[in-house]
Amino acid sequence: MSDFLLEPDVIFLNHGSFGACPRPVFEEYQRWQTRLERQPVRFLARELPEVLANARSEVAHYLGAQPTEVVFVPNPTFAANTIARCLPLGPGEEVLMTDHEYGACRFAFQFAAQQKGFRVVEQPIRLPVESNDSIVEAFWQGVTPNTKLIFISQITSATALTLPVAQICARAREAGILTMIDGAHAPGQIDVNLAEIGADFYTATCHKWMCAPKGSGIFHVREDRQHLIEPLVVGWGWGKEKTFHRENEFLEYHEWLGTHDPSAFLTVPTAIAWQREQMTLEVRQRARDLVRTAVDSASQIDGIERVHADPFFCQMGLIDLTALQIEPDALKSRLYDTYKIEAPVIRWQERTFVRISAHAYTTQQHIESLILALREIAG
Ligand SMILES: Cc1ncc(COP(=O)(O)O)c(C=O)c1O
Repeated sequence: MSDFLLEPDVIFLNHGSFGACPRPVFEEYQRWQTRLERQPVRFLARELPEVLANARSEVAHYLGAQPTEVVFVPNPTFAANTIARCLPLGPGEEVLMTDHEYGACRFAFQFAAQQKGFRVVEQPIRLPVESNDSIVEAFWQGVTPNTKLIFISQITSATALTLPVAQICARAREAGILTMIDGAHAPGQIDVNLAEIGADFYTATCHKWMCAPKGSGIFHVREDRQHLIEPLVVGWGWGKEKTFHRENEFLEYHEWLGTHDPSAFLTVPTAIAWQREQMTLEVRQRARDLVRTAVDSASQIDGIERVHADPFFCQMGLIDLTALQIEPDALKSRLYDTYKIEAPVIRWQERTFVRISAHAYTTQQHIESLILALREIAG
């Protein structure tokens, strides 16, 4: 698909790590940057509040949320740090997560746990999973009377697994446990409706599957939970002399982080429009079919196995190369240096996976090249 700026000689099967920005979206991003630089003070001090409010309102609508409950943040790592470090959590309390969580977010909680004295509990979810109910049951084994917060991915990074987060949030609510959902991989890959998920806190990237420019993420906090979290970065948003003269303390606290380039945030509405126009159900289904073909074909190769059944993956899939006993860095280099295939090689619980992503620009030819490469690598 010519809309993307990706180098044509690379077989790019790693949309999952950082996304990729289509040309019309990237051009809009550059227009915002130019507008800023032509009169920085007018733009940042006078025009920004209104255009940012519009962008926030559009992303909130896209995600089924209220504009007063969403702030733009650079990324989910930032939002996870806000919750880990600024939510009152202390000795005797536990944060429960799965053993599939993203490293940087896990570290944010482990770091805060060392500082504040709470405990991080990682509950195993064994692969392959069988059903949503069995995932919820396995996860719930980790709940104790001390569980104060659940932190869980909507789609996991290392294992490309879609977790039943609405079910978990509903059960947590009944038990009086707060929930934070890490939706880094969700919007743009699957339909997201935050009202239906019902989490207390939710974060996502706009730069991965929504295809917005890098450094655009959202942090959603239900209105009745906003009083619980202090700002991670204290600046103008906290004091009495407000920069943006806004009424809403939540927006003040969490969105103005000091001088920065908000162009990526302001481009999110264009990315949403692009998604609506280009990423139709057919295009998304085609991408999912390519992932399924890749996983099915790879698992025919001796020494390579499939990890999940279809319903648990979307535009990312997992291929298990553990039995080949290849050192992950060597495998990664071989894929890229010999075959020009960009795909992450992931070590998870003593296993070695290749994670593949498919998007509008992915072709059958790309998948065939991957399978050919895996056949040669498997010997
Ligand atoms: C599940 C998950 N959570 C969080 C993140 C962090 O994203 P960022 O680096 O944009 O903060 C990632 C990044 O790949 C991820 O896969």
